[in-house]
Amino acid sequence: MGARDQELLAALNLEPLWMPFTANRQFKAAPRLLVAARDMHYTTHDGRRILDGIAGLWAVNAGHCRQPIIEAIHRQAATLDYATGFQMHSPAPFLAAEKLIRIAPPGLDHVFFVNSGSEAVDTALKIALGYHRARGEGSRRVLIGRERGYHGVGFGGISVGGIGPNRKAFNGQLLPAVDHLPHTHDLEKNAHSRGQPEWGAHLADALERLIELHDPSNVAAVIVEPVAGSTGVLVPPKGYLQRLRRICDEHGVLLIFDEVITGFGRTGRPFAAETFAVTPDLITCAKALTNGAVPMGAVIVRKEIYDAFMQGPESSIELYHGHTYSGHPLAAAAAIATLDLYRQEALFERAAALAPHLEQAVHSLEGVAHVVDVRNLGMIAAVELEPIRGRPGARAFEAFLRCYRKGVLVRTTGETIALAPSLIIESGQIDELVDTLREVIATLP
Ligand SMILES: Cc1ncc(COP(=O)(O)O)c(C=O)c1O
Repeated sequence: MGARDQELLAALNLEPLWMPFTANRQFKAAPRLLVAARDMHYTTHDGRRILDGIAGLWAVNAGHCRQPIIEAIHRQAATLDYATGFQMHSPAPFLAAEKLIRIAPPGLDHVFFVNSGSEAVDTALKIALGYHRARGEGSRRVLIGRERGYHGVGFGGISVGGIGPNRKAFNGQLLPAVDHLPHTHDLEKNAHSRGQPEWGAHLADALERLIELHDPSNVAAVIVEPVAGSTGVLVPPKGYLQRLRRICDEHGVLLIFDEVITGFGRTGRPFAAETFAVTPDLITCAKALTNGAVPMGAVIVRKEIYDAFMQGPESSIELYHGHTYSGHPLAAAAAIATLDLYRQEALFERAAALAPHLEQAVHSLEGVAHVVDVRNLGMIAAVELEPIRGRPGARAFEAFLRCYRKGVLVRTTGETIALAPSLIIESGQIDELVDTLREVIATLP
């Protein structure tokens, strides 16, 4: 960082910006600013290199500031900055959609573009409701999510989501016809699992009871993250997702996989649907779709769902939904370059090959002071700490701060420290992440 950058930063007024999901006052008293990035590293405002252990925020799967993506964005911005997708469009989103369905599970072959994971979720929920209505089953309105599920911050997403603090302030204003499955995390039964826990498939049977309760004729869709990320990396028990699929099939209920963090190689395959050999009816994705470089999300749907809307006069708009920036040219160009890069560098295969090393490294933290669980799947790993009595999340947050001071970026959520590095990470860098965590955790209060 040059002297001019430092001057600019010193003059930065932090006050006007209201930061998302952040303790604003605490942050502004001791800011952490990232000013540059390349491959596996960030540079901080005070000139330090930080090893990025979370791919930005589960997004930068090909590593930071990759040249082909930068060039694609530059080219697109200089050629066509913006074109509406309403009754018009530009070529890039068509090409991006085609590339996306090539890596999607077979049968999911139509794409609706949005600008974030939250928009993808709310769009998927609306598509599910619209699909049943278009087929003459408009009574199917109930949406079923799961405790500890995170589906973004739209009213739909927080309604089907299962995180108390995200819902608390909006109580009474959430979607009315929603129910929740129990989550699958039980430290007594599945702590220290390597990959999928053996215990817990039966928890999917709660879906049978919920559908019975509401009556199948009223139930539209179930939405789950194949691996829950934001509430602390909850890997699905063996057989659990298969059971959800079977129960949905038996009752004509749509299954939505929210793959906003599990998409694009994170589990060693393009989508977790393939890793777990369970094909949903809709997939929501975002983040690594553009390697985090430009905001973009997508809903990928089965042909039958798309076809159900393609009725009536050809001149009629089939879905009254969309955004000014749906299929934005810059985002689409970034997605095309990103999907090409994943293929050219075989990054999903690389993730599958590196996953055993991450598993081995992170499970070496078992037995370290405060550690109550270590879990992993693909290029995702988590370490859960014993909470400090009366101060939930404080110990894990302190670990995050200390790691950052030592040059490593991790993500904490509640008592859990999550790792989800870019898929270009070297095995020595995995060791660096885990060794830093070990040093930090062992000395935590
Ligand atoms: C599973 C899942 N769904 C939805 C979202 C929301 O995505 P966004 O923050 O892009 O709105 C996230 C974000 O982390 C997520 O993990």
